[in-house]
Amino acid sequence: MTQPDSDAPQTLSRLPAGVPGLDELLGGGLIKAGVYIVQGSPGAGKTILANQICFNQVARGGRVVYVTMLAESHARLFQHLQAMSFFDPAAVPQSIHYVSGFNALRDEGLAGVVKLLRTEMRESKANVLVLDGLVMAATAAASEQDLKLFISDIQAHAVLSGCTTLLLTSDAADRPVSAEQTMVDGILLMRERAYGPRRERNIEVVKFRGSATLRGNHAFRIGADGIVVYPRFESAHRESPGGAIELKPVSTGIPGLDDMIALRGVPEGSITAISGDAGSGKTVLALHFAACASVASPALFFSFYESPEFLMQIGREFGLDLAAREAEGSLTFAWHPLGENMLDELAYRLLDAVRQTGARRVVIDSLGGFLLAPAYGERGDLFLASLANELRRAGVTTLVTMEESDPRRESRLVSTPSLSALSDNVLNLRLQHGTFTRRFASIGKMRGTRYSQQTREVVLTAGGLRIGLDDPAVDHQG
Ligand SMILES: Nc1ncnc2c1ncn2[C@@H]1O[C@H](COP(=O)(O)OP(=O)(O)OP(=O)(O)O)[C@@H](O)[C@H]1O
Ligand SMILES: [Mg+2]
Repeated sequence: MTQPDSDAPQTLSRLPAGVPGLDELLGGGLIKAGVYIVQGSPGAGKTILANQICFNQVARGGRVVYVTMLAESHARLFQHLQAMSFFDPAAVPQSIHYVSGFNALRDEGLAGVVKLLRTEMRESKANVLVLDGLVMAATAAASEQDLKLFISDIQAHAVLSGCTTLLLTSDAADRPVSAEQTMVDGILLMRERAYGPRRERNIEVVKFRGSATLRGNHAFRIGADGIVVYPRFESAHRESPGGAIELKPVSTGIPGLDDMIALRGVPEGSITAISGDAGSGKTVLALHFAACASVASPALFFSFYESPEFLMQIGREFGLDLAAREAEGSLTFAWHPLGENMLDELAYRLLDAVRQTGARRVVIDSLGGFLLAPAYGERGDLFLASLANELRRAGVTTLVTMEESDPRRESRLVSTPSLSALSDNVLNLRLQHGTFTRRFASIGKMRGTRYSQQTREVVLTAGGLRIGLDDPAVDHQG
């Protein structure tokens, strides 16, 4: 065949969903005049998703018909939507028209619903149609054939009027494939995944005619601004070019440590893991690194355990005036207390904060904050490798603290592959208990520069954390 199909449009025009992250999954948005099924158990977020898309369209000058299968009025629905920032009561009913299809379905069956849709669409010249309650229609269908006919009526209408159509159904996302699913242009599944007692909302595009999508599960959150989708980090960045490190020194903030590196600092753009026992000085060391920030070269301290106030107080004990750094805008604290954090959300927040602050130095204290996010178990190393690459690509020099092992489990928390997925350099901190607790530092690996093989003592003083400068006698051969 040499002649291209003359009916085929050259490029499919898109209808942006306007739901953060969703258009990225879809390769740019829904296809105009496409018919989509949004499927998920009750409470999955279908109604919120659809309304968010509708109000976003309205804000761009679009017109919407929203058909529910509710018998009661829409007051209840509006009450729920009112809590969402995207809801604009002024747009109802001029730009977005809510209609109940309940009576039509009860009195005239599916044909009645189709008739209602046609009339509504014609009158309102809508470019988006939502049918919230496809299951109700499916139950009313006399046969599978009937339902297919109903869907094909809707499709014909969508194409004729250029109206993008969403069919919401509360079938569980894992229901076997049905006739209507084979007919439509795309299927979005919304589910909740259990990780022990925790639940994480997920969305998956299982079918999408017309373009590639980001495959697999992607986490999303429902909040006051509606739905935010976090495209699975490693899949969203799979085509990122590799980030490079540069052999320019960035001071660790501790002269004795810089001294152990031939470059006299860590390479710019590299990621250094500070691995050590609890209490070995990881956070204090990281605070020294952050305290080197200047307005020309700002720092970001991304933490999970201590609040910014507490970190500044720790800094004061070691003679670091972090509050002054913060006040002049050269140091920003971003604190994400451990809780129901989502892995991808954290990664995007970190990168957003890097972008917003223009940070050149980044501290992540600690990696444990990521490890505790539910999805880490399944994705760990791929996720870390991708996060590390994005940090390198941003050109920032990163320190990431990690607890070496959990004393209760006597096992390493971070596997060796994870460590190499994440870090270019490894600095080990050790505690030695005796009459006095002593601390020791050694470099486990350093990419691109020679480094001392010695183990040097770490001394915590009111003047700061120092490494093996004062008393070379405490150096031990590593
Ligand atoms: N402000 C909010 N913050 C967080 N979650 C919210 C908020 N408002 C609603 N939710 C959650 O959104 C969900 C309801 O979403 P929605 O009504 O869109 O579900 P649905 O898939 O349409 O369900 P159904 O099949 O019953 O119609 C509930 O699980 C609720 O917990
Ligand atoms: Mg609903």
